[in-house]
Amino acid sequence: MDFFEAVHRRRSVRKFKRAKIPEEDITKIMEAGRAAPTDATLHLWSAVWIRDDTKKAEISRLINQPHVDEGSDFFVFVADLYRLRELLKFRNREIAKNKISLLLFAAIDAALAAENMALAATALGYGSCFIGAVQNAVAELIDMLKLPPLTYPLFGLVIGIPNEDPPQRPRLPLDMLFHKEEYRPYSDIQLDQAYQIMGKITRSGDWLRLLERYAGAEGYFNERGQVLVELLRKTGFT
Ligand SMILES: Cc1cc2nc3c(=O)[nH]c(=O)nc-3n(C[C@H](O)[C@H](O)[C@H](O)COP(=O)(O)O)c2cc1C
Repeated sequence: MDFFEAVHRRRSVRKFKRAKIPEEDITKIMEAGRAAPTDATLHLWSAVWIRDDTKKAEISRLINQPHVDEGSDFFVFVADLYRLRELLKFRNREIAKNKISLLLFAAIDAALAAENMALAATALGYGSCFIGAVQNAVAELIDMLKLPPLTYPLFGLVIGIPNEDPPQRPRLPLDMLFHKEEYRPYSDIQLDQAYQIMGKITRSGDWLRLLERYAGAEGYFNERGQVLVELLRKTGFT
């Protein structure tokens, strides 16, 4: 498949046939992840590959994402400073005391690898969906996946044989996402237009309800932020 075709054909797929992708194809998909750029060659990410259906079903229930159970393979992407610390320790060196910037770049490294994998899966005719809902069960996943200190689950990627062909979902217009030469604040017309365009992605047609549910004053991300601060302390990041 042509590169641009893969980019524009990729959708979040949430219905999968209950069948396994051949391991050779999963290896190709993982190789695409491995080829992604990584800041300063640090490889600040790793992923736990879950192919076992029983384990996958358990995680699916835990995070309340039925498509994780239906899919063939699930990857939990992890910010991984543990491997870096081991590498440094092996040569009698210490890892940075302040790890916040490393965490930021770990999330970037992981996202780049995962998007390469999602595109590779599309090019091979498979479906995928990113799963931020792993954030709802970070402590449980740390136990279940035996994640060592200085690792932190970021998001998941489920890959499978699609059992639906979802329509292309809307995006904000190019001129709201890219600012030529310098940042330009948004006009009321642009903001109103954004609600009209993005309303199509929701059942109610009201994008505001979605924005509020996730990112409003009392939204999910507000709650998650509080848990994150506490768990980053426990895992050794702060
Ligand atoms: C970081 C991230 C986390 C996401 N988390 C979830 C999730 O937990 N469950 C889910 O069904 N979709 C999830 N999605 C998929 C988005 O909802 C989807 O990308 C968006 O609605 C646009 O649709 P499209 O991917 O089909 O273009 C996530 C996407 C990203 C990038």
